[in-house]
Amino acid sequence: MAVNKSRARLQSTMVNVLFCYAAFTVTGVVTWVHLHTQTVRQQVPQHSLLPKLSDFKPDPGILDQDLPLENSLEKAGNQTENSLEKAGNQTEILKPANRQEHQQKQQVIEQQQKQENRHETEQTNKAKCTKTIASLAKYSKWFRDRFKPKTKLFMDKNDLKDLRRLSTRILPNGLRGQKQITMNDILLHKNFTNPPVHGPSKKPGCVSCAVVGSGGILNGSLAGQEIDSHDYVFRVNQAHSSGRFAEDVGHRTTFYTFYPESQNISKQGDDVIAFYAMFKSYDVQYALRILNGENYTNGVSKILKNGTKSSDIDPKRLKLIHPGFFLYITNEFLAKKFRPTTGALNVFIALHICDDVRVYGFGYDLRYSLHYYDKEFIKHRDALTVPHNIEMEKKLWLKLHDEGAIKLFKRDL
Ligand SMILES: *[C@@H]1O[C@H](CO)[C@@H](O)[C@H](O)[C@H]1NC(C)=O
Ligand SMILES: *[C@@H]1O[C@H](CO)[C@@H](O)[C@H](O)[C@H]1NC(C)=O
Ligand SMILES: *[C@@H]1O[C@H](CO)[C@@H](O)[C@H](O)[C@H]1NC(C)=O
Ligand SMILES: *[C@@H]1O[C@H](CO)[C@@H](O)[C@H](O)[C@H]1NC(C)=O
Ligand SMILES: *[C@@H]1O[C@H](CO)[C@@H](O)[C@H](O)[C@H]1NC(C)=O
Ligand SMILES: *[C@@H]1O[C@H](CO)[C@@H](O)[C@H](O)[C@H]1NC(C)=O
Ligand SMILES: *[C@@H]1O[C@H](CO)[C@@H](O)[C@H](O)[C@H]1NC(C)=O
Repeated sequence: MAVNKSRARLQSTMVNVLFCYAAFTVTGVVTWVHLHTQTVRQQVPQHSLLPKLSDFKPDPGILDQDLPLENSLEKAGNQTENSLEKAGNQTEILKPANRQEHQQKQQVIEQQQKQENRHETEQTNKAKCTKTIASLAKYSKWFRDRFKPKTKLFMDKNDLKDLRRLSTRILPNGLRGQKQITMNDILLHKNFTNPPVHGPSKKPGCVSCAVVGSGGILNGSLAGQEIDSHDYVFRVNQAHSSGRFAEDVGHRTTFYTFYPESQNISKQGDDVIAFYAMFKSYDVQYALRILNGENYTNGVSKILKNGTKSSDIDPKRLKLIHPGFFLYITNEFLAKKFRPTTGALNVFIALHICDDVRVYGFGYDLRYSLHYYDKEFIKHRDALTVPHNIEMEKKLWLKLHDEGAIKLFKRDL
């Protein structure tokens, strides 16, 4: 059933791709130049941006595998513009370095921390600026070689001047095939206020962030309070955090990342900023729907029923994840090949806007059900059909943890 569905998707993908290739002549290879954004670390968060209680309702999740169409591209092998390497070789880049070396590196970092701040304890989540993501580059060559702090995270109207550059690639890495007029409509929309990630008023110290995935490892974790103690809490897709879920995953939400089929927050806190991921053409149309405050799905989504209104995304709190950011993650961290999951997007957005990043409910721990909100145990093998490379992302979280970029939440059964 699922196989047939994904096969059908793949076929329609291929048709789309052929169409794309027919419709657009490739005029040459254009080197991607990273777009620049303000150095967010100079801005500081505003307390009023911090979320209010969000009222998420439990629901079996729409998985990332519901991502149709173009997302199957990477799996389709030679169809993809990014498939520089063949499957099977993709994990090499992430081969963990010598463990001893890691431990030594870790010790150096820890000693440095102790010297710089005697009061730092493992228990505090509040970063003390002793070690920030940015300064990690000093210690980790692996991280330094990949992390591009100036990569533009979100789209804005300046991108209209850059559409030609963006149109060398298809979604989600570019806007090839999208109409200029649609992009105008979106980026110049009255409701597209594109709020800054950090508010204007200065919060002293560093920005600590909790990125909450949907991993079953959170079920029964009692990590909710710890999660909520961070300055910012990131959530994604089916982000159930009310009722019985709150004690395991917390209830605050600062940032919420979604794509059309994954969104389901029945009620947002007023201050939640929504990060929107555009993976496929109709996601662009859908952005316009959100901005218009229309019923989201009429005639747009091939998957969602007409008239489905699955959430209350406030158009004025919408931000669009920049195609260049997808490309950057794919190229630097996913072997130039695989699409980041929405969860992965969140981790990387956090790495770019926070000083201290803790990651919860990631890592696909096989001992737990796929999602923390599953009503019945779902095996992870089901997740392996997604058009992303889950195994690779899993290794990536461990690697980022080893390098000290994130702290990955782990637990015993
Ligand atoms: C969203 O969640 C509610 C329950 O919380 C459920 O009734 C609804 O079907 C869900 N919608 C989608 C699109 O998943
Ligand atoms: C994809 O690659 C395989 C072998 O690498 C080849 O046989 C096949 O014709 C290719 N398909 C397309 C559409 O290029
Ligand atoms: C994998 O990489 C090795 C060299 O690193 C190469 O010899 C081999 O052909 C590659 N395999 C595939 C399937 O591309
Ligand atoms: C902006 O969004 C609101 C809903 O929040 C909607 O009622 C209004 O029509 C939108 N404005 C425009 C210009 O589309
Ligand atoms: C939006 O959808 C609801 C049903 O979900 C319907 O009653 C309403 O008329 C629709 N509004 C518009 C503007 O399409
Ligand atoms: C959904 O709505 C659009 C526009 O309102 C319409 O063109 C399309 O036929 C509808 N699709 C279905 C399956 O009802
Ligand atoms: C979640 O944890 C509870 C115990 O804490 C357990 O009874 C339940 O089966 C778990 N849910 C899943 C889907 O594994």
